[in-house]
Amino acid sequence: MRFAIGRPDPKEAQTGERLSMDMSRPGRRALDLPPLDVPEAPPPPSHLLRTSLRLPELSQNEVVRYFLSLSRLNYSVDSGFYPLGSCTMKYNPKVNEEVASLPGFAHVHPLQQRHTIQGALYLMFHLQELLCRITGMDSSSLAPAAGAQGELAGMLMIKAFLRDHGQSQRNVVLVPDSAHGTNPASAAMAGFQVVTIPSNAQGNVDLEALRETLGPQVAAVMLTIPSTLGLFEPNIQQIAQMVHEAGALLYGDGANQNAFLGRARFGDMGFDVVHLNLHKTFAAPHGGGGPGAGPVCCKSHLAPYLPTPVVEQTDEGFRLTSPPRSIGRLLAFWGHFTVLVRAYAYIRALGEEGLKAVSTHAVVNANYVRTRLKGAYHLPYDRPCLHEVVFSTVRQKAKGVKALDIAKRLIDYGFHPPTMYFPLTVPEALMIEPTETESKENLDAFCEAMLAIAREAEECPEVVREAPHTTPLARLDEATAARRPILHWQGG
Ligand SMILES: Cc1ncc(COP(=O)(O)O)c(C=O)c1O
Repeated sequence: MRFAIGRPDPKEAQTGERLSMDMSRPGRRALDLPPLDVPEAPPPPSHLLRTSLRLPELSQNEVVRYFLSLSRLNYSVDSGFYPLGSCTMKYNPKVNEEVASLPGFAHVHPLQQRHTIQGALYLMFHLQELLCRITGMDSSSLAPAAGAQGELAGMLMIKAFLRDHGQSQRNVVLVPDSAHGTNPASAAMAGFQVVTIPSNAQGNVDLEALRETLGPQVAAVMLTIPSTLGLFEPNIQQIAQMVHEAGALLYGDGANQNAFLGRARFGDMGFDVVHLNLHKTFAAPHGGGGPGAGPVCCKSHLAPYLPTPVVEQTDEGFRLTSPPRSIGRLLAFWGHFTVLVRAYAYIRALGEEGLKAVSTHAVVNANYVRTRLKGAYHLPYDRPCLHEVVFSTVRQKAKGVKALDIAKRLIDYGFHPPTMYFPLTVPEALMIEPTETESKENLDAFCEAMLAIAREAEECPEVVREAPHTTPLARLDEATAARRPILHWQGG
């Protein structure tokens, strides 16, 4: 057989089973404090002291080894290839971290007086301008704290615009079935009714279905571009025209802008408002829920509704302000400032040509993976993709091996699994985004692993079905782990 099942590292296996409390021995210490050289102070009153707090008693090397082995169980973009489709887990240049931790940025306080934070405000103002240039829009707000919050902001802006123009009866938002899952959720949160538009056999928006659904009730169409199939929408200009002729607005989900940075702009395609994910496209680290930044950029007719704050330049310098018909605040203070700093550093370091190179590499890498794997895995939409490629493992499923099993088996080969079962329009989907920051060698190693797993699915499917074999725990009950997590030590 051509596969090798790795053996768990005994130290790691031990960590999976033994917590620091289990290793605790009474009286053991990690540090000896020097004798007191100040007068002893009485402890706080006993009702303030917790007697039930039990801490592990360990030596220093036990503590260090324990946490080091725990950290080795973690997987991150700094430790390996992380091909999560739609999530763009690309390598983030460390220089951005250094820039963001400069004291003038890291220690700025949101309540500081305006004249003391002109540098920070300049950065925000300039970033607003750069994002408008990149997207082909007129105005922007950096306030939203995540992509989905940018979507919510955009939807609320559209709602407020329609209200001001006597169009409040427009309460329906059309969302193609290839949109990101947060799109219908954001539209619903903004109080719209969501209607799904099907894709056609090529994975594009079905224009006939769109034409039939557009009408006087429709407020907006929300389009993820590229779609969650990793495909560009070739009829985008026609769609924009249809939407506008019907009196509705066009929203763009630009979370995955690394697909066409420097090559195509939302504004030129006819979008009215778009959000970007700085924590993906512009190399601010993310994962685990944040912090992120999902700025909204819009055409001039929506600018009065942008979320608060926006930064404006006056004769007395830069200042934070609220647009005249603003939808208001989305969060306390001014957004995730150091995420903005990282994105700004990234954009300035790369410049126009560098940003263009980002999309070249993102697209070339995804198409490389697509061509290498398409003989082994079913490709539901067999055409060049943009930044990510979606396979279906229906062929393997016929042998009893599901997308989930393949994803788990990749862990044995040392790779983070791709996104699974998304988009919903593709059965047994594996959505792979190699990102622009991986070398050919890394892509080859990943493709070799995927090809080996395809062979295993043919020759010894149980090995894939029972994977992973190299982790302290294998198949967890994920629903119970999420709903009823055990978060504290339960020893005797
Ligand atoms: C296309 C698309 N839209 C929206 C989002 C939502 O962004 P966030 O997770 O920052 O809310 C994502 C996140 O992966 C995305 O890929």
